[in-house]
Amino acid sequence: MSPHQAWLFAVVVVTLGALFSTPSNGVVSASASVGPPRRSSDEAYATLLYGNEFLLGARVLGKSLRNTGTTKDMVALVSNGVSAYARELLQADGWIVTKVDLVANPNRGVKPRRLWGVYTKLRIFNMTDYKKVVYLDADTVVVKNIEKMFKCGKFCAVLKHSERFNAGVLVVEPSQAMFEDMMSKVNTLESYTGGDQGFLESYFPGFANARIFEPNLPPEILDSRPVPKMERLPTIYNADVGQCVISNNWKVNASEIGVLHYTIGPLKPWDWWTSWLLKPADAWQNVRKQLPESLPGTGGGGIPDENFLVKILLFLPFGALFFCYYRSLLPTRDYFSSLSDQIKHLHFKSRSAGTHIYNGVSTSSTSNPNHQAKVPVYLGGVSVIFSFMAALVALSIAFAIVPRQVMPWTGLLLVYEWIFTIFFLLFGGYLRLVYHWAKATAVQSGSPTFRSESLEYDSGKGHQRFAQSCDNATWYYWLLMAVLAIAIPLLPSFLGLTSLFPRIVLMVAGGLILASFMTYASEHLAIRSFQKGVEDRDTTRSKNTCPS
Ligand SMILES: *[C@@H]1O[C@H](CO)[C@@H](O)[C@H](O)[C@H]1NC(C)=O
Ligand SMILES: *[C@@H]1O[C@H](CO)[C@@H](O)[C@H](O)[C@H]1NC(C)=O
Repeated sequence: MSPHQAWLFAVVVVTLGALFSTPSNGVVSASASVGPPRRSSDEAYATLLYGNEFLLGARVLGKSLRNTGTTKDMVALVSNGVSAYARELLQADGWIVTKVDLVANPNRGVKPRRLWGVYTKLRIFNMTDYKKVVYLDADTVVVKNIEKMFKCGKFCAVLKHSERFNAGVLVVEPSQAMFEDMMSKVNTLESYTGGDQGFLESYFPGFANARIFEPNLPPEILDSRPVPKMERLPTIYNADVGQCVISNNWKVNASEIGVLHYTIGPLKPWDWWTSWLLKPADAWQNVRKQLPESLPGTGGGGIPDENFLVKILLFLPFGALFFCYYRSLLPTRDYFSSLSDQIKHLHFKSRSAGTHIYNGVSTSSTSNPNHQAKVPVYLGGVSVIFSFMAALVALSIAFAIVPRQVMPWTGLLLVYEWIFTIFFLLFGGYLRLVYHWAKATAVQSGSPTFRSESLEYDSGKGHQRFAQSCDNATWYYWLLMAVLAIAIPLLPSFLGLTSLFPRIVLMVAGGLILASFMTYASEHLAIRSFQKGVEDRDTTRSKNTCPS
């Protein structure tokens, strides 16, 4: 067996082993074995799911509630869009799962489409099995005991900006009469949001002037006055993460916050990229890590179907690259064989590294007019455009195939792996094309004096082979591109920037640096490949090829 075959064999064995190793089946929690949870309290926390996308959010919310030590019921209202598996998992987590029909949104053609079923939230007013219901959106997480909320009167919410309230956290005293009254007005009452929040705003007019909820008043004062129709909750019961990252300030005593609400649309806490953008997502991720393995493979927020996919995604690029390497479809062989030469010549490079990287091109344009004529003027521009297109394609594919709800580190790793693999294959293939094209055209035209000249120009001493330095430079280009691509998105996290806008500004600035370097590197790599193609037009005279 040749070393190459041995390598391939080892990679295949390790990959298969990792793919088919069954995840450790931890102890399935007790609640799954004693049947679904039943009603055991006359007060309940409730949430609502329209689809499986919010399943992980609901699981984390449930775990965060249990972490506060509450013994109240937890009721998940689920619509038809929620799968049987999701319902089973919620039950195993301790939720009382109640199927509900969607309440159709009367505002025809509502945009965005996610608002289509949101009137279903009104069904919490009909949960008459309970005296009081604290409703929490599935994109909230409880960070402190919030049991005081059950002292709230008939209807409580947190007032936001523009004298409107946010319907993500509500305290409701269920009443079938009120619910039926609401249902009769769904088609007539105006909704400024096109959803439930706007409807409730119209249903409870004058909410902005409601009294603030004071759970700590002595009972004799509370009993002596009539229960208000509605009360305003303090902001700590619905702390807006969006508002916090924009102003980089909670505006309330952060240690008193009870409920965090992840309001920014595309930055839901379960999407892996959110953790790299929003500091407050850490609170959510911390609870997610504690999720029990209620059903096999669901510990730590794992999604059984995705666990296998993630493994495939993790190993496939290695397999693909290795296959290409093995079949010599890629220049990697040249890279690796040149690596040992590089180490040998390290002392030489350390003395002349700066000029060494770039002198191939600069020399050719000054001292080698014969060569300069060979490189087509449009090659640089075409290469830059191609490299950016390749980067864009790699980025799009990577983000499209990596599951959204994996752990932040897994997502980052997978996306990088796929971006680099796809970019390397596309741009490497392009460089190879340039190389062969140059080789073919050079054979036709021919330039006998050129080769010997360029053999000497690079070392400056005549003992360094051209291909050697060419490999080195190519290595540096690829390496620097990779380092920049990794460092730039991670920079804000390492600098400890918590505010969203400075983070984005820093990333955009870093992206510009990366783009400038890519412009430079892609042009030079292409020119080098072209030069090398010309060099190698006579294959019998040169074996050590420049990676193309
Ligand atoms: C409201 O709840 C009551 C009692 O639980 C039930 O009988 C009734 O059908 C519900 N109304 C709607 C519209 O679902
Ligand atoms: C914030 O709340 C905590 C706990 O309630 C309290 O100990 C602390 O003094 C408060 N800090 C400020 C600045 O009010």
